[in-house]
Amino acid sequence: MSEKLKHKLRDKIAKLIGFDIKERDMDSLITRFGILALQRGYQNLHEAIESLESDPELLMDTVELVSVSESYFFREPAQFEALAQILPELYARLHHPVRIWSVGTARGEELCTIAIIAHESGIPVYLLGTDVSKSMVETAKRGVFSSWSLRIVSNEIKEKYFVSEGGFFRLKDEIRRMCRFKRHNILRDPLPISGEPDRWDIIFCRNLLIYFTPEAIEVVKDRLYRSLSDDGLLFVASSEVLLTANAHRFESFEKNGVFILRKLEKSRQHRLRSLNSLSF
Ligand SMILES: C[S@@+](CC[C@H](N)C(=O)[O-])C[C@H]1O[C@@H](n2cnc3c(N)ncnc32)[C@H](O)[C@@H]1O
Repeated sequence: MSEKLKHKLRDKIAKLIGFDIKERDMDSLITRFGILALQRGYQNLHEAIESLESDPELLMDTVELVSVSESYFFREPAQFEALAQILPELYARLHHPVRIWSVGTARGEELCTIAIIAHESGIPVYLLGTDVSKSMVETAKRGVFSSWSLRIVSNEIKEKYFVSEGGFFRLKDEIRRMCRFKRHNILRDPLPISGEPDRWDIIFCRNLLIYFTPEAIEVVKDRLYRSLSDDGLLFVASSEVLLTANAHRFESFEKNGVFILRKLEKSRQHRLRSLNSLSF
């Protein structure tokens, strides 16, 4: 394959899904994309790459080729301890179920962990998990997990919320019913998501931006900002705090040793900017 085609595929993937494919991974990706193109009846790679934007099925299959789906229950436990502390305060202020959106939710471990936390604290929540990958969303809806996904879950929580079935763990209905999953590409698909709230009180977007190009990170940050309610909170993975830091749009605060980002309203952004520009 020519270098030109290689770059074209890389650029299309960056534009359509946000992924920053490393040079070293390109050869294996091209081989797998070539097989996919043949299976889908394309005559050559050029035609398949050009069709990525207009052929949603081909794009979906390409997502499966590049997507990293590693996740597990209670990943970064300190973040969920912080959430457990925040939920009662937030509910007391909002007077409505706390709206929480898990972006790039994979098989649903993240959203189901949030549901367990909310259930334990008795705080009403409205939950949605989205992922660009159709197969992830279908798996999430089933609510059946491998022991690997539960590797750091305590026996107490396992016994309370899961049923062991042939080496797998099925989430009990009381938690499963709280969690809804939809397919959605955070980079490009319409916002607000059809049938969902315009604004969310809390967004989890963890271990997603680390795979994205700098341009895609900016687009996603802007979309998350616009999807948050006033003072809404954004949880990113601890390795992503620097990627999302933007003094003019979010302020970070610390809870339970965890950095959480809070949406700054326009007037406060302006005030902070003025303060930052003062020289003494
Ligand atoms: C590494 S997993 C992280 C799962 C979970 N958030 C966590 O931290 O454990 C990243 C997930 O993001 C999804 N993803 C990648 N690009 C996406 C996009 N453009 N829109 C929505 N989801 C995306 C992938 O399909 C994958 O399931």
